[in-house]
Amino acid sequence: MCGIIGYVGGADKAVEVILDGLTKLEYRGYDSAGIAIIENGKLFVEKKSGRLENLKSVIRTDKESHLGIGHTRWATHGVPTDVNAHPHVSFNNKVAVVHNGIIENYATIKEQLRAEGVCFTSDTDTEVIAHLYAKLFDGDPVTTMVALKKKMRGTYALGIVNSDDPERIVCARKEGPLIIGLGEDKNFIASDVPAILKYTRDVIFLDDDEIAVIEKDKVSVYDAEGRLIEKESKKIEWDMDQASKAGYPHFMLKEIEEEPAVVEKTLGIYVNPKGDVDFGETFGKIDFEKIEQIDIVACGTAYYAGLQGEYFLKKNAGLKTAVEIASEFRYSDPFVDQKHLVIFISQSGETLDSIMALKTAREKGAKTLAIANVLGSTITREADMALYTLAGPEISVASTKAYTAQVTMLYLLSLYVGLRRKAITKAQYDQRLDKIYVLSEYIGNVFFQKEKIKALAAEIREKEHAFYIGRGIDEKIAREGALKMKEISYVHAESFPGGELKHGTIALIEQGTPVVVIATQKDMVEKMLSNAKEVKARGAFVIVLTKKACKELEEVADRMIYIDDIDDMLAPLLAVTPMQLLAYYTACAKGLDVDKPRNLAKSVTVE
Ligand code: AGP
Repeated sequence: MCGIIGYVGGADKAVEVILDGLTKLEYRGYDSAGIAIIENGKLFVEKKSGRLENLKSVIRTDKESHLGIGHTRWATHGVPTDVNAHPHVSFNNKVAVVHNGIIENYATIKEQLRAEGVCFTSDTDTEVIAHLYAKLFDGDPVTTMVALKKKMRGTYALGIVNSDDPERIVCARKEGPLIIGLGEDKNFIASDVPAILKYTRDVIFLDDDEIAVIEKDKVSVYDAEGRLIEKESKKIEWDMDQASKAGYPHFMLKEIEEEPAVVEKTLGIYVNPKGDVDFGETFGKIDFEKIEQIDIVACGTAYYAGLQGEYFLKKNAGLKTAVEIASEFRYSDPFVDQKHLVIFISQSGETLDSIMALKTAREKGAKTLAIANVLGSTITREADMALYTLAGPEISVASTKAYTAQVTMLYLLSLYVGLRRKAITKAQYDQRLDKIYVLSEYIGNVFFQKEKIKALAAEIREKEHAFYIGRGIDEKIAREGALKMKEISYVHAESFPGGELKHGTIALIEQGTPVVVIATQKDMVEKMLSNAKEVKARGAFVIVLTKKACKELEEVADRMIYIDDIDDMLAPLLAVTPMQLLAYYTACAKGLDVDKPRNLAKSVTVE
């Protein structure tokens, strides 16, 4: 998603700070970049489509400016060109704006401004903000921003500089992430922590409809009507080396290999010394026996984590669970009420589809829980309750360790709820909790097969299609395996219930078509053997992912990937790691940009 960075300070040069911040935001995915600074009362703007290097190649770093804004754009309106890149500049060349989000009524505003003689240069929605702000500017950035917000409909995280107001940055947010970094004789705005962590750990998370004016030695925050409000700052605990590759070729491989440690940390924090799952005061006085249904709502990989959660809650808590895609949930007039607990899973905590779905659930009276990986993210502040996954910063666009953290958390939560609903006895609770303690070691064992998986990836790198099949909860991780393969290697991968392929899609199986057969559930092995034989008979290249103890499928497999013999309920959580590696090595074999795949963003903050 778009990345925003702004700086106002005394000593550092704005161009250097902003380019450094944009580099740290590259992981969010973008297709153009730009910068605006104010120097000696004049506005200077440079912006280029393509990678950040294109901008760096034209920008003069000797500018003495100490105030500016920068942007990496992920195109929503207008193709990625120099002209459509941000910042956008006002008709009088005084105001520059960077924006993340969509101004839904931009066409109407554009028409009105054109009628007043304003000439537009870009195809973007954002450009209207620059012209409107310049038109409304009355000397006070706060009253101007209040007036501007009243004219716009849509979503935005905004940073604005104005050569008629050269010592201040004004910013505002509405359903788009924006933080304020507090430094010594310098202050920042940014879309995300990595952009400013080099300079400060103290941040203020702006809430929806808030406005802020940033000076080098002062930060003032206002509500939507321009009234000054108090905001507390938070301390960022993690550090840059967690957000750096630390010698790995890609963030994605580093983050996959962090999965054992993520599981250890999750168990260490959320299981207390007495051996009980412990979420502290998170759930307050909720009586889980009165919760009739748990719904899980998320997007992408987080949604697939939710599907694992559904199984855990059924088996461990005796609870019916509906898992919904957030962008569908919101418009489906969902049947949720005060007897429902709706869980929103989001690594970034800024996925707008999930945030808007959360608002729908709250409007209908449901209790809402956010499970997110980013401290202070919007979704954790919109929900009634919040739990944090402890995966640490996940930089690669492909979500891997966050998925592992989400599913581990959901397993613990299912036991916590099950015990309180008396769906399982304490003995069953203890026994099932104990089973997860081998997970970290078993994930680590997967890495002994890296070379084998890498060789397999080289064999399928030219394939156009791949199919992933499984039954029961294996089918749920087949979906995640297919998504990983699609999003980073651009192989068209689809998942199906094992028994479903023969109802149509098997027509697509040709000589050498890769089919990943996931068979970790003892009672499904025989059925999966039949499905594997069906595709094999039509020429498929059969890749079997199963437990070491399960030898039945060797007869039909072209390649075998094994996982340790973990409890069936946890097997898919273990099996996801080899699939992440298969997708990773396939993308590497194809020479693709693994951490920043085309068209994708780390956090989708538009609907
Ligand atoms: C996962 O690899 C993708 N990058 C994407 O599906 C992602 O899971 C989805 O956009 C949800 O993001 P979130 O967890 O930050 O809400």
